[in-house]
Amino acid sequence: MKIYIVKDEKELSRKAANIISAQVIMKPEANLGLATGTSPIGTYAQLIEWYNKGDLDFSEVRSYNLDEYVGLPADHEQSYAWFMHHYLFDHVNIKPENIHIPNGMELDAEVACTTYDRLLEESGGIDLQLLGLGVNGHIGFNEPGDAFEKTTHKVKLTESTRQANARLFKEDESVPEYAYSMGIKSIMQARKILLIANGENKAEAVKKALFGPVTPEVPASILQLHNQVTVIVDEAAGRLIKDLV
Ligand code: F6R
Repeated sequence: MKIYIVKDEKELSRKAANIISAQVIMKPEANLGLATGTSPIGTYAQLIEWYNKGDLDFSEVRSYNLDEYVGLPADHEQSYAWFMHHYLFDHVNIKPENIHIPNGMELDAEVACTTYDRLLEESGGIDLQLLGLGVNGHIGFNEPGDAFEKTTHKVKLTESTRQANARLFKEDESVPEYAYSMGIKSIMQARKILLIANGENKAEAVKKALFGPVTPEVPASILQLHNQVTVIVDEAAGRLIKDLV
C-alpha cells in the first residue's frame, strides 16, 4: 500500500487525477470504477481540465459506479447518476452506453443487484477503482457490520451516513434509507485501487482503515489485503497517521 499525505484537497485532486489519467493513457479502453461524494469532485474537475486541453480521451473508457440511492431517478439532483453527469460525464467524451450505475429505480433488489453484478462480470474486471471513505469507515455503501458483503446488495444506510449526506439534500427532502452498493468482493477484485480522503472528520477512519485490524466493523480495512492500493489523504485526514507512514 502506497500512502501519500499531501498538503490540501487541491494537491490531492491533482495527484488522484494523475493516477486516473495514467490509467486511461496506458489503456484507453480502461474500466474505471468511480465514486461520488465530495471527495472526488476536485479530481473530476482536474480530469475535465486535462480533457479540454486535449490530453485525455474518454471515448473508449467504461465506467462502473459504486452505488446509487434506491428510489431516486437519474434526473433527481441527489441521485448519483445526476452527480456523475454533472461533475464528470457531461464534460468529457465518454459514450453514454459505456456508463454503468446501479439502477436506483429498479425496486426489485434481486433484479437490480444481479443485473449490476452481471455487468461487472462481463466487463472483464475493473482496472482502477476510485474510492472515497465514509466517516464510519465505509467504502461504497458497504456499511460497518458483522460480515463483508461480497456482491452488489441493497443496504440500509446507517444514521451516521444519512446525517453525513444530508448536507447535499434540500431541507424538505429526506436522505433515502436504502442504497444499492457494489460489494466488497467486487471492489477487491479491481486490479488497482485508489482511496482518497480529505478533511479532519476523516482522520479517525483513515487511521482505523489503514492501521487497525481488518474487520467488517471498518469495511475499508479490507483494503490492507489488496496488493495494489494507493491512498492519498490531505494533512487533516492524515493527522493521526503521519508518524506511522
Ligand atoms: C460514494 C461512495 C461513498 C463515499 C463516502 C465519502 O459513491 O461510495 O462511500 O465515497 O461516503 O463521501 P464524501 O466524499 O462525500 O465524504
